[in-house]
Amino acid sequence: MSKVVIAGNWKMNKTASEGKALVEALKPLVADVCSSKADIIVCPPFTTLSAVVEAAAGSNIKVGAQNIHWAESGAFTGEISAAMLKETGVEYVIIGHSERRQYFGETDQTVNARVKAALAAGLKPIICIGETDEERTGNRTEEVLATQLAGGLEGLSGETVASLILAYEPVWAIGTGKTATPEMAEETHCFIRKFIADKFGAEAAAGVVIQYGGSMKPENAAALCSQADINGGLIGGAALKADSFANLVKQAIEGKAGC
Ligand code: 13P
Repeated sequence: MSKVVIAGNWKMNKTASEGKALVEALKPLVADVCSSKADIIVCPPFTTLSAVVEAAAGSNIKVGAQNIHWAESGAFTGEISAAMLKETGVEYVIIGHSERRQYFGETDQTVNARVKAALAAGLKPIICIGETDEERTGNRTEEVLATQLAGGLEGLSGETVASLILAYEPVWAIGTGKTATPEMAEETHCFIRKFIADKFGAEAAAGVVIQYGGSMKPENAAALCSQADINGGLIGGAALKADSFANLVKQAIEGKAGC
């Protein structure tokens, strides 16, 4: 895969007017990035989605949400359905971020239900997986990722898996400034792709996009994306400013071109 897929996860940052201003600032900075080189996605909070979809219209910036509920509608106070997201005009949705697993009780089963709801509505899931520090030091990284993948992707066809985005985000690297080295990340991405090949077939493994996430910034994006199995990034902090996000996108493209 010669292009990169870079998504900014804004987390609980940016009101509607702040989000609109960020996208307005980002648009000219990435206007020259062609779609054969990169997909650029921003994922604002729910209340900021409509303003950002409007601001991004006609540009090369696509929009995603940060969560989705699995039910069509009903008594789920505080939740947002696939139809609600579709109507805002978003194309993507992040599912199973480690912060949702850690603070909001997300499990592989609920991830799986959300993935199916997103797919049924024609939304593209960005499914997050990753091990904690304790799991890595305990040599359990592969076991943890295999469990998350098997549970999260249960019941999906190889063809569907080929169209997915997975985000490998080591929990110990999120917001800490501690990035996995490109070699360490590549080794894990390689494991993930092999797992997909074994479970879902070669076509799924070749098609699935595997992003790296966890303190990715303009300074390390090229080295990370130069790795064969790293197809882009899911970015937190560095996505909150137009210049750093645009710079990161360009570095990621350069890294991939040199790969
Ligand atoms: P940081 O880039 O701030 O480490 O966050 C990564 C992340 O969690 C993206 O989903």
